[in-house]
Amino acid sequence: MEKYWYWMVPALFGAVVLTAFVVNHLAPAARKRLRRIVILYVLYVASVVGAFGLAESGNAAWAGRFQISAHLFEQFTIVNVVATVLFDAVLPRAKLAVSAILTDLIVGVAYIVVGISAMHQGGMHTSDVVTTSAVVSGVLALSLQATLGNILGGVAIQLDGSVHVGDWIQLENGKQGRVKDIRWRHTVVETRDWSTIIVPNAQLLAQNITILGKRGGEAVPQRMWVYFQVDFRYPPSRVVKVVADAIVGAPIERVAKDPGPSVICMDLARDGKDSFGLYAVRYWLTDLAVDDPTSSLVRARIHAALRRADIPLARPTQSLFINPDNAGDLELRESRHRDQELSALNCMTLFDSLTLEEKETLTHHIRFAPFTAGEVVTRQGAVAHWLYILESGDVEVRTKIEGATETKLVATLSGPNFFGEMGLMTGEPRFADVVAKTDVDCYRLDKAGFQEVITKRPNIATEMSKRLAERRVELIAIRDGLDDEARKAREKKEQAHILENIQNFFGLK
Ligand code: CMP
Repeated sequence: MEKYWYWMVPALFGAVVLTAFVVNHLAPAARKRLRRIVILYVLYVASVVGAFGLAESGNAAWAGRFQISAHLFEQFTIVNVVATVLFDAVLPRAKLAVSAILTDLIVGVAYIVVGISAMHQGGMHTSDVVTTSAVVSGVLALSLQATLGNILGGVAIQLDGSVHVGDWIQLENGKQGRVKDIRWRHTVVETRDWSTIIVPNAQLLAQNITILGKRGGEAVPQRMWVYFQVDFRYPPSRVVKVVADAIVGAPIERVAKDPGPSVICMDLARDGKDSFGLYAVRYWLTDLAVDDPTSSLVRARIHAALRRADIPLARPTQSLFINPDNAGDLELRESRHRDQELSALNCMTLFDSLTLEEKETLTHHIRFAPFTAGEVVTRQGAVAHWLYILESGDVEVRTKIEGATETKLVATLSGPNFFGEMGLMTGEPRFADVVAKTDVDCYRLDKAGFQEVITKRPNIATEMSKRLAERRVELIAIRDGLDDEARKAREKKEQAHILENIQNFFGLK
């Protein structure tokens, strides 16, 4: 009889007690493993006692069998004690979590090794043991095909490392969740609404799953979209700026700073039916577990920004706007437009000498014409159809210099101001490019309107020719490099020339 059991039984008892202590303190979640250890230890002790008893009573054959089983249970207990302490207590503490499947695989391999060695020690031939195990495995494999598919799926997922515990995934049916555990047969996915999806591993491998917020194994924030709708009469550039300023202006919890959020106009009048522009705030979510609450914070920020800027969210498209054929309403709307146009004209020093009545005549000939930053409003050399009344925003007057590829800046005009008068009033081609530097609100006045006024008050031509001459000479000075003296002389000459041109063009002579 093996002497070493006299010390091995108490030693293993000590190890089991120590393991229980460690697990209770460091990994209470692994307590259920303790039960397995205790059962193995009890079977071990029972086998030892049985082996001693049978040896005493002279039954050597059965005593031998009990010895083999005592060896087996001893080894199994040791394997379990080591695995529990290592995989449940020590490695997680060192932030080296090993998945359940890998732990089980290691323990399983250890079982086979110690099992074969125990049987070998007990006098069995290793080749017999291996052959018997192979036959048993074959029979099991045939009868448990589906289960084995899942098990192999689980092993494959673990080994190729495509999905990890903690990853956020989206299944083919659109459900999203965080991988809680990859088990032998299935993968446990916890959704945001506190449900748990059990996906058989074979199925998980067969479908296209999306790993959220990860690229090339690197964690990246997930891109989110928050849509909102604004009446399409509000200029998109303004809506975008108002919302972007508010979103970027101060941080929002869980919204990544880099890459930062952005605002875009997605569509105007979707399908040609909706009476709103569709906008979206795109942001990068740093914590996938809190997606909706973060979108809600973003929506609140959008709402407040639009309220401050007096831009209402669009009414639902189902709303029916009934415009009765009401002449009063129409007139009211038109008079509102005329008021706006009149106030634009009133801001223009160019029209200071016009009476109110003359200005009102002009309002029938002007049209609102906004431009966004970067747009070319007039092109040098083009035929002039309009004079532009710049209500707000900045434009750059640029001229082409012969031989140069780039245009040269002549002047920057800020609203209220005007431009395009040279072409309109003299009939000559445009003298320069005018490019919107910022988003600008403009009105365009056509030639017929101007003709009406100038025919009534021909001396406007004289007043304006001076302004025109100043601008034109400034432009020529930049283009041809004139000094101050040459400039003054040129101004006088140009004024006379321009006046003549205006009078000819409008038939005032
Ligand atoms: P027009 O020639 O019709 O088109 C280009 C416009 O640029 C021109 O009318 C003027 O209104 C404007 N412009 C040209 N030169 C100057 C200048 N020196 N300062 C301000 N505006 C100018």
